[in-house]
Amino acid sequence: MTIADDIKRLKKEKNAVVLVHNYQPPEIQDLADFTGDSLELAIKAREAKEDIIVLCGVMFMAETAKILNPGKKVILPAKDAGCPLADFLTPEAVRKAKEAHPGAEVVLYVNSTAGCKAEADITCTSANAVQVCRSLKSDTILFGPDSNLASWVAENVPEKTIIPVPKNGHCPVHMVFKPSDAEDAKKNGYTAVCHPECSKEVRDKCSLVASTGGMVREAGRSERWAVLTEKDMAYRLKKKFPGKEFFSFPDAVCKDMKLITPEMLKESLEDEGPEITVPGEIMKRAGCAIRRMMDIKR
Ligand code: 13P
Ligand code: SF4
Repeated sequence: MTIADDIKRLKKEKNAVVLVHNYQPPEIQDLADFTGDSLELAIKAREAKEDIIVLCGVMFMAETAKILNPGKKVILPAKDAGCPLADFLTPEAVRKAKEAHPGAEVVLYVNSTAGCKAEADITCTSANAVQVCRSLKSDTILFGPDSNLASWVAENVPEKTIIPVPKNGHCPVHMVFKPSDAEDAKKNGYTAVCHPECSKEVRDKCSLVASTGGMVREAGRSERWAVLTEKDMAYRLKKKFPGKEFFSFPDAVCKDMKLITPEMLKESLEDEGPEITVPGEIMKRAGCAIRRMMDIKR
């Protein structure tokens, strides 16, 4: 019996579904029932009929799954898998920004804690940030915690004023890229695609800016891609498009996304934990902001 066989048996016994983010290690991607970006995982979690949702990703993704489907047991096999970008923001900072800008609406990237989301009018992911901001009534939007995604939204929604909260929130993984990475890739015959968490200088040198799910959807546009995001995105793309070439950058590693091993996944199914819970009041308020996002057409 291989570990994959054990996991398959346990999933059946426990009536569990395994949802995996596109940045997870190849050996975890290979054990997935579904692999996707943050929005796709949230949609799958909300629709899940199984008793247990195992979220192979990071804490904000597991919290989102729990908020969207509170009757299910949600498990994050590595309970310490956080997101340094989410750590840039606190609920107090959101409240202060609201006080300073009365009348502004608050859009929070899902890469934030459930406590912060409880302070938001609506959440967004990188796949729908532009549509979410366009859909709002207010001309002024407080947007956090990623200042790069905020600037990308501002470029695409010029009719609104987008104020980043905080000013310097960023993902350290996406800050490893330099404009020359995209330029060099292009010189070598690659089409450069980057995640909107990259700096404006990097985004401006790329042919396409997309969420990780968007990268999968748009892969048909070229035969040779340079992928300026977390390195294991290339595994996801290669698996889906074996005939195409995907060049990734070995320094772009999200340590939090690499904490789950197949052994941990197996143990988490055996133990039905670590279970992720969200306090009732936060669940209610964050749930309003997340569900409002889910109602917006992509
Ligand atoms: P996606 O929603 O594009 O998968 O992004 C999640 C993330 O954490 C990017 O760093
Ligand atoms: Fe957070 Fe960056 Fe890792 Fe995404 S890649 S989970 S934003 S630290």
